[in-house]
Amino acid sequence: MNDQQQNPDEFEEFVPQWGSTAPKGGRAVLNRILREGNKVPLFLGQTFVRSLRDVGYNNTTSAICEHVDNSIQAGATEVRVYFNQSGPKGAHEVDVAILDNGPGMPPHVLQVAMSFGGSMYYENRSGIGRFGVGMKTAALAMGPVLEVYSWQERGTIYSMTLDVEEISSSRTNLIELPEPRLMDALPSQAASIFTKPMAFPKEEAQDLLAFSEDDLSERMSKSGTLIFIPNCDRLSYKTARTLAEHATREMSRIYRRQLGDGLRLFINNRRIEAFDPTFWMQTARHVQIEGLQDTRSKLINSWPEIQIPTEENGKQTGIASVRLYMLPIESWYDLPRKTLANDLQLFSDQLVSFMRNGREVHIGVVPELSGRRHADAVWLRLQVDFSGDLDEAFGVAMNKQGVRPKKYALDIIREHIKDDVTRVREKTKEFRAAHTRTGQKSHLSEAERIAQEADALQSKPLPAYTATTEEERRALDQNLRTLALTLKRHDESDDDAFERIKKSRYLTTFKHDPYWPFYHVDFQLGKVILTVNTAHPFFTQLYEPLSRVAVQEDESDGDGGTPRGASAEGSDLLTGLQMLLLSLARTQSQMLSSEGSAEHRQLFENLRKEWSDSLKTQLQMTRR
Ligand SMILES: Nc1ncnc2c1ncn2[C@@H]1O[C@H](COP(=O)(O)OP(=O)(O)O)[C@@H](O)[C@H]1O
Ligand SMILES: [Mg+2]
Repeated sequence: MNDQQQNPDEFEEFVPQWGSTAPKGGRAVLNRILREGNKVPLFLGQTFVRSLRDVGYNNTTSAICEHVDNSIQAGATEVRVYFNQSGPKGAHEVDVAILDNGPGMPPHVLQVAMSFGGSMYYENRSGIGRFGVGMKTAALAMGPVLEVYSWQERGTIYSMTLDVEEISSSRTNLIELPEPRLMDALPSQAASIFTKPMAFPKEEAQDLLAFSEDDLSERMSKSGTLIFIPNCDRLSYKTARTLAEHATREMSRIYRRQLGDGLRLFINNRRIEAFDPTFWMQTARHVQIEGLQDTRSKLINSWPEIQIPTEENGKQTGIASVRLYMLPIESWYDLPRKTLANDLQLFSDQLVSFMRNGREVHIGVVPELSGRRHADAVWLRLQVDFSGDLDEAFGVAMNKQGVRPKKYALDIIREHIKDDVTRVREKTKEFRAAHTRTGQKSHLSEAERIAQEADALQSKPLPAYTATTEEERRALDQNLRTLALTLKRHDESDDDAFERIKKSRYLTTFKHDPYWPFYHVDFQLGKVILTVNTAHPFFTQLYEPLSRVAVQEDESDGDGGTPRGASAEGSDLLTGLQMLLLSLARTQSQMLSSEGSAEHRQLFENLRKEWSDSLKTQLQMTRR
C-alpha cells in the first residue's frame, strides 16, 4: 500500500462515476485497485474491449474489408463473404462470415492474432496489414462476438473466440487469452452457411461451396481461415440484400487490382468482377456493357515517380505514382442516362482514387488535385498509387478508413499535374459546348420556330429583306450561302446549313471566347442572328445545364425514368430562355433598323458589355 491511499476519507472523493451499463467485471477490478491498491494493468480489458467497438468504420463493407485484406495478405486466392439472414421478417438476424483458402494459422499464431496489437506484420509497410488491430476491431464493430477458425490441414481446426460480454464480466485483473480449441469439423451453426443458399441473391445466381455438411469437409480447402461474427447488432444496413449490394459495389472497385490478378471473391455465393473507375482495365466489368464502343479511357499523362517526403520537411521520401485519364467522352456522352449513371457510375464523384499497396483506400473529389466538383470534371480521373511508407503523408489511420492527405503532399502532386488537369477540363468544356449547340437534331430549334411564327403578331415589324428580280435573288442566295458557312453546325453539310438558314428568320449560333460578353446580336440579310458565348458563366451555369436537363428528360421517355411531364417542363424552360434572348435580339435589330443611330448602337454595345460583366460577377459568387 502506498502513502496516498492511507487516509480512508480520501477514498470518498475517488468513487468511480460509471454509467449503469458499465461492465460489472471492470467495476470489480477498478474497485480492488482503488481500495486494495492492486496492480494496474496497462489496459483495463473489461472496458477497453467495449470501447474498441466504436473505433469507427465507415460502414459494414469497410469493416469486412479488414478481413478480406488479411485473407489476401495471407495469400488466399479465394475469399467468400457471407451475410446470412435468418428468422422472421422484421425481427431477423444477420451473421457475417468470411472464409478464405489461405495457409491458415498454426495455433500459437492464432493466439497472437487474437490479441489487440497482435500481428505478424506489425509496422511492415509493404503489405496491407500494419497495425495489428484490424481483425479484432472490425469484427467487434459489427457484433459482440468474434469466432476465428483456422486450419493448416483438413480435420485439424483451431478456434478462438472473443466475446465482449464475457471479457467485460471477467473479474481478473489481467485478462489472458485461452489456448485455442482443437476440433475436427466446423460447428454446424457456421457450417450451415456454406451449404444452403443465402436469402439474397436469387438462388440461380449462387454458386454454393458445398451441398451438405458431409460434402463440406471435402469441398473446404486444405488450409484456410474462417472469421465468423454471429448475430451482428451493428450493421450499417438491415437486410442481406442491401448489405450484399453495397459490399459488391464497393469491393469490386476496392480490390479491382487483386480481382484483375485472378482473386476469386464471392459475396453471398455470387462471384464479383472488377470495376475500374478509371476505365483502363480491360478485364473490368464495364467492358461487357452493351453498346459501349470505346471501352478504354485515354491516358493523358502519367508521373510514375513523384518524390514525397514521408514527413513535412523531412529528408526521407517515398514514391507516389499518379496517372491522369480522360474518359471517352465522344462516344459515351450520348449514352442513355441509365448506362452513364448506373453501369458506369459516372456521376458518383469517383474522380480521384488512392491506392495503398494496390488496394483502394479512398475515392472521391479532391479539389486540390481534380479541381472542384463540376460537370466538366465528370470525364477526368486521377489514380494515385503509394505504398505504406507514405501513410503519414496521406493520412492513413489505424482503421484505414480513407485518407487525409497532408497539404504539403497535395501541393507536390498538384505542381506536377495541374496543367494537364486543366487541359482535360478545358477539353471537356469545349466538347460539351459544341455538343449543346448541335444537340438538337431537328434543324430549327423550337424557340427559333416559335419566334418566327410570333412575328406576325408583333406590333413593330422587322425590316423586310426581299429580293424581287432574279438577279437580286441570286445575289441573296449567294450571300446566304456565305453566311451559312459561318453558321454551319458540325453535323451539317453546306447544303443543309444553307437550307436551314434560308427558311429561318431567327438563327442561334455559338462561340467560345472567355473575353467576350455572353451574347451578341446581329441583323444580316433579314436574319436575326443571336450568338451565345459558351465560355461565359451564363452559358456554363444556366444555358448548358438547362439544355442538358431538357435533353436527358427527352431521352428518358418511356423507359420508366423521368415522367413525361417533367420532360416537357425541362424543354419548355430551355425554349423560354432561348426566347428571352431571341426577343432581345429582335428588339435590338428592330430598333437599330428603324431609328438606327450610331448612338443607339453604342448604347446597346455598352449595355451588352456591362451587363455581361455584372452577370459574370454575380454568377461566380454562386460558385464559391
Ligand atoms: N485470414 C487470415 N489468414 C492468415 N492469417 C491471418 C488471417 N487473418 C488474420 N491473420 C493473422 O492475424 C494477424 C492479426 O491481424 P490484424 O488484427 O488484422 O492485424 P494486421 O493485419 O495489421 O497484422 C495478422 O498479422 C495475421 O498474422
Ligand atoms: Mg489486418
